[in-house]
Amino acid sequence: MDAISVIRTKRDGGRLSDRQIDWVIDAYTRGEVADEQMSALAMAILLNGMEREEIARWTAAMIASGERMDFSSLPRPTADKHSTGGVGDKITLPLAPLVAACGAAVPQLSGRGLGHTGGTLDKLESIPGWRALLSNEEMLQVLADTGAVICAAGDGLAPADKKLYALRDVTATVEAIPLIASSIMSKKIAEGTGSLVLDVKVGSGAFMKNIEDARELAATMVGLGTDHGVRTVALLTDMSTPLGLTAGNALEVRESVEVLAGGGPADVVELTLALAREMLDAAGLRDADPAKALADGSAMDVWRRMIAAQGGDPDAELPVAREREVVTAPASGVLARLDAYAVGVAAWRLGAGRARKEDPVQEGAGIELHAKPGDTVVAGQPLMTLHTDTPEKFPYALAALADAVEVAPAGTLVEPVPLILG
Ligand code: URA
Repeated sequence: MDAISVIRTKRDGGRLSDRQIDWVIDAYTRGEVADEQMSALAMAILLNGMEREEIARWTAAMIASGERMDFSSLPRPTADKHSTGGVGDKITLPLAPLVAACGAAVPQLSGRGLGHTGGTLDKLESIPGWRALLSNEEMLQVLADTGAVICAAGDGLAPADKKLYALRDVTATVEAIPLIASSIMSKKIAEGTGSLVLDVKVGSGAFMKNIEDARELAATMVGLGTDHGVRTVALLTDMSTPLGLTAGNALEVRESVEVLAGGGPADVVELTLALAREMLDAAGLRDADPAKALADGSAMDVWRRMIAAQGGDPDAELPVAREREVVTAPASGVLARLDAYAVGVAAWRLGAGRARKEDPVQEGAGIELHAKPGDTVVAGQPLMTLHTDTPEKFPYALAALADAVEVAPAGTLVEPVPLILG
């Protein structure tokens, strides 16, 4: 077997055989297939697609490239959630302790932000002392002690995906449904969760810009999970405007704690509860009441224990950026559009995100929103506050926001986009 013949098969629109797939994933993981060859293959897959059986075999080969975790010793059913990524998407933070408070074990392997979407680990690292890197034994211990753990995936889990995702990121080959589906599902299946809820985002701030693509991605991932014995369901949710009122690391932790304290923005609460119900249902805990667990403080208790078990101080002051700048409403009327992608790019430029994997992020940087689509606004009122430690970044953030906002004349009916689309 050689890489050139595998690339040629896909370049010419053919179907990769099981042998070709197993060989190329294994050889790439071992360094025998070079990055430039794998980039060519990834581009051929992006352009020519894959059949369902090819995606299933590709995913199985990525799982087989590393270890599989096993939570069967836990007395609770396991439930995990994965979001395809968006702006202001802090849902994992309140959701994991909430679902644990309702009786499931939540092993939440999460990632860092790259580009305009934030990463759960970057957000949590703004809590003084909190550690994302746990050994498998530590992860299992936190899970057994508190019911939930949010941490980085170890190097042994789907190593083929780790290499391939980094390569796709720099070769414009991220946006291929077979590659996204196999990347996400190989990690989730190798992680060993019994059930999985996928939050597939749709809109300007998401990978999938239209509902048809999002539906295809969701169906592909549900099929892969189900074939591997993981009870898998997907929600399609709106990402045309940011979730909640914050985008940025410490800013989003603060908002998540508000949700756990029984407050917080309505859309964050709605999505947290909807995903919690799906997770509990998939885990067979149909009688649990997540709204009660938010209201009675039991989700907050799990949060505090989970943060402390990973070295964090749940009572510590969160970092605040040194500089602020307020963006005002350009006209009076109804806020008709507040674009998620533009807000995500602006938050990233302020320092909340990174351009390269090795870049640091600013803990306090990001954007606070003071209005959401459908709200009445008056010309000159604050619409957003930009936060950064590096004020020389303000002009770049403001440039990203140039077309982010649309104000319609007063009295215009701005139809709210439903948060849950399917
Ligand atoms: N997240 C992943 O883990 N992989 C992808 O390909 C895209 C998003």
